Amino acid sequence: MNILILGGGGREHALAWAIKQNPKCDRLMVAPGNAGIAQIAECADIDINSRSAVAEFCEGNAVDFVVIGPEAPLVAGVADALRHAGILCFGPSAAAARLEASKAFTKEVCDACGAPTAAWARFTDAVAAKAYIEAQGAPIVVKADGLAAGKGVVVAATVEEACAAVDEMFAGAFGDAGAEVVIEEFMAGEEASFFVLVDGTEVLPIGTAQDHKRARDGDTGPNTGGMGAYSPAPVLTAALQAQMLEQIIKPTMAEMARRGTPYQGVLYAGLMIEGGHARLVEYNVRFGDPECQVLMMRLGAQALDLMLACAEGRLHEVAVNWADDHAMTVVMAAQGYPGAYAKGSEIRGLDGLPADSWQMVFHAGTRAERAAVLADGGRVLNLTARGGTLAEARDRAYALADRIDWPEGFFRRDIGWRALRE
Ligand code: AMP
Ligand code: GLY
Repeated sequence: MNILILGGGGREHALAWAIKQNPKCDRLMVAPGNAGIAQIAECADIDINSRSAVAEFCEGNAVDFVVIGPEAPLVAGVADALRHAGILCFGPSAAAARLEASKAFTKEVCDACGAPTAAWARFTDAVAAKAYIEAQGAPIVVKADGLAAGKGVVVAATVEEACAAVDEMFAGAFGDAGAEVVIEEFMAGEEASFFVLVDGTEVLPIGTAQDHKRARDGDTGPNTGGMGAYSPAPVLTAALQAQMLEQIIKPTMAEMARRGTPYQGVLYAGLMIEGGHARLVEYNVRFGDPECQVLMMRLGAQALDLMLACAEGRLHEVAVNWADDHAMTVVMAAQGYPGAYAKGSEIRGLDGLPADSWQMVFHAGTRAERAAVLADGGRVLNLTARGGTLAEARDRAYALADRIDWPEGFFRRDIGWRALRE
């Protein structure tokens, strides 16, 4: 079959790598792709947030199946347009993607179905928001309701900091995303992510992961999109996963179906675990980046069969073929990231690196220029490896990192420290 993946980051390179290994895949296209993806798939330059551009491309290229990587096309209704045109698609409708696009919507759904999460309130004016903060005290969490490229959340240590965040959001720091503000109880604990496929009714767990959001070793420095990840997450024990399915994920999915907006695609639940109990932090309606890289490393070619079963409403027919393995990915980023950084420096040392089911260099922000690979984003490469233990996966991932010659980049040396300590 002919398959199109939308997106051009490390997540999409990992998806393309896994899908390409499955004999069901004939022609693989990725829009827009990157230099690494171009080595295994045809890259197409289309506006992936345009419903008509994506649908027209699919019709013109006999695409049988579309996998949507990032949230923006989902929120823009690209999955709806494709299904309307009769094209099989992996990813939720715009109505179901509200689980990521609106934090107030998600909290409302959680309340309706009894899913445990932080206490909350929503505000459209600063005076009421600040009065609530004063009454609750700090620490407290202030969130822009809408999508803010991962920057719309302030975990405030003091009432003053929380009030300043409210002012900033209502002043338009996040545009329309901050027109409404959600204020939440601060939850202490350890964070982990749980990934499930949902076909409208059936829920199939496909793995757990933890990432490192801070830029520097020791989980210090500014917040980023993620500097590394590993799977499985030891803190999400089998018992806790079962509890999360019954208390949070299945009730949410049932509530979405009850509202007439059933969910189809991968659901990424961010959980906060404390004292053996977990509560929901947030949902994302896509794979995490870089969490997808470690999940794909572990699932390999079967990922396509699972995604097809999900899109076709036959999840009850499939099972995940688990190996007793671990995977880690280390992100190489441009110096300066997540602040200002330069593009265009050359990355050397990529030729001749091992590339197999134990170790892969996934490209995130790169572009090819003649024979050279140039940095073209903040997060640039994902050094990803698998092993019988997490330590083995880590050693392989860092062995890749040490062979790459890119003085303009940096990476953390301590990915997985928490899990490796246990
Ligand atoms: P979100 O975009 O909602 O996931 O928030 C981004 C990050 O902020 C999360 O991954 C957590 O680290 C943190 N966070 C969000 N909500 C809370 C909360 N209620 N308590 C503690 N930390 C939170
Ligand atoms: N790595 C976090 C995310 O994809 O949202």
